[in-house]
Amino acid sequence: MRLVAIRARAFTQQTIGFVRSVVVRSLAFVLLCPVPISVAQNDIQPEQTVALTSKDSVVATHEMVVAAHPLAVDAGLNVLERGGTAIDAMVAVQMVLNLVEPQSSGIGGGAFLLYHDAQTQSLISLDGREFAPQRADETLFLDDDGKPRRWFDVVPGGLSVGVPGTLALMDHAHSRFGRLEWDTLFEQAIALATNGFSVSPRLSKSLDGYGGKRLQQFTEASDYFFPNGRPLQPGDLLKNPQFVETLRTIQRDRGESFYRGQIAGEIVASVKESVLNAGLMDREDLAAYQTIERTPVCSQYRGHQICGMGPPSSGGVTVAQILGILEFFNLEMLGPEHPMTWHLFVEAGKLAFADRNLFLADPDFTEAPIDALLAREYLRNRAALIDLNGAMAVPVKAGTPVDTVSLSPDTTDGLPGTSHVSIIDRDGNAVSLTTTIESGFGSGLFTSGFLLNNELTDFSFRPQKNGKPVANRVEPRKRPRSSMAPTIIYGPDGSLKYVLGSPGGSRIISYVAQTIVALIDFDMSPQEAVNQGRISSRNGSIDIEKGTEMMAFGSALMSKGNAVKARDLNSGIHVIKVEPDQLTGGADPRREGIARGR
Ligand code: GLY
Repeated sequence: MRLVAIRARAFTQQTIGFVRSVVVRSLAFVLLCPVPISVAQNDIQPEQTVALTSKDSVVATHEMVVAAHPLAVDAGLNVLERGGTAIDAMVAVQMVLNLVEPQSSGIGGGAFLLYHDAQTQSLISLDGREFAPQRADETLFLDDDGKPRRWFDVVPGGLSVGVPGTLALMDHAHSRFGRLEWDTLFEQAIALATNGFSVSPRLSKSLDGYGGKRLQQFTEASDYFFPNGRPLQPGDLLKNPQFVETLRTIQRDRGESFYRGQIAGEIVASVKESVLNAGLMDREDLAAYQTIERTPVCSQYRGHQICGMGPPSSGGVTVAQILGILEFFNLEMLGPEHPMTWHLFVEAGKLAFADRNLFLADPDFTEAPIDALLAREYLRNRAALIDLNGAMAVPVKAGTPVDTVSLSPDTTDGLPGTSHVSIIDRDGNAVSLTTTIESGFGSGLFTSGFLLNNELTDFSFRPQKNGKPVANRVEPRKRPRSSMAPTIIYGPDGSLKYVLGSPGGSRIISYVAQTIVALIDFDMSPQEAVNQGRISSRNGSIDIEKGTEMMAFGSALMSKGNAVKARDLNSGIHVIKVEPDQLTGGADPRREGIARGR
């Protein structure tokens, strides 16, 4: 039986009865016929989950910062205390994250920002995504026979490094929305880099795995992360004098040296002279970098306005499609404990990822039909494809929101190396920043005290398939498709209600969509929503998080025909809920972040 376009409000008693009976049957199946769920083998997670420590929601009255490391949160709060805006605080937080969580983000990478400006009640989005060098083309990751090289072979070294955008984004955002002097935003990062900071368990643990092996292929990174040949241990005092120099330079010149001067020269030398995979970046590429202000992607979900980042990130559109499909089902009635909820969630994920893989890429090269992809009638037709009794076979095909499509899909998956920052200041301005160097420890190239990204591996290695081009193929000065989904949500009365986002490679999309469902449909607190076991559906096998309540749904999902894998799912969701007299923050227990406010 197909569930054709059941609108939430028009959910009939008959359908409710049907759904209930399916739920009961599914639950019975879970209880009576447990099927062993395969545990993912060779599960490379360059960003490590630390112990799942329970955290409580944090409540404040005026301002709040939620980020992946307490020292970064302190830096942001310090700026807010001095009268800075959320944007001022964001600069301070990012610079400290670069130092204390170097595996995830920094000025060697790229970022996307959603910013709610309280005074004008407007929302802007900034694209600080890396781009490919001018000399790169669609053969970048092909071997001599024209075949795609292995992902693991091309990540280390210069070939995968995109022209970094995070610093330009910080400068741009601060010029428009900052209040404090730029040079005052670096003091905490400089003090920590000068005097040293305590290496965290997660940074140390990350050095154990694949990311650490990559670093050891490069002298500069080895010297810093493996002093005397031994990986940094939790509690080691780590100083970064090179980064102090870089920060002092940026303090003085706002990025002039980084994009056009001495630091640019060091970046280019590091990329071009890499002992592995020498890259193609020239000084002209750095000098040409521009932050782009783009129109945010906003859509309705159960009376709320959900706003996210448009292409080149696929995050905003794909989250909006998942929610747009789910809106035809009554999740509130089903609740988080019914297997049917997660059946619907994974089927919506398959449909949305099919469209993402075909259509979404850098809009300056291939314009995606975003309005058509998010049109209610189109999503109603997509929702009608969901069969309550069985899983759609994967890969599900993309839809036809527009008539002529001459593209091939790209199913490139990144490995997660990213961080999310949520901030509210006392004027009500909000920052939702997702920031990345792509895989944990990026390309492994360490120059001027920071790591360079491997963002170009977010491009499709294959430029075409079956004679049709892939929208996300490599082209000169093009930005690779991202999955980052910084999100700002307005309530039914139009007021700012939630600020959130997550790291996690292309699973970011599932993590953010699941969290929004938890907040809106299940009315969970930010911390409850963040704590939920994770489930991810990307038009392939279904991932569920080992050791969580989500494992209970594995058998039901398998019985419907899905391949299900249990694995660590290291989201890093950071949420702030805004109410008239209160801010409530939740920080992901899988990482080391915290929410703090006053
Ligand atoms: N590199 C992670 C992302 O952009 O989605």
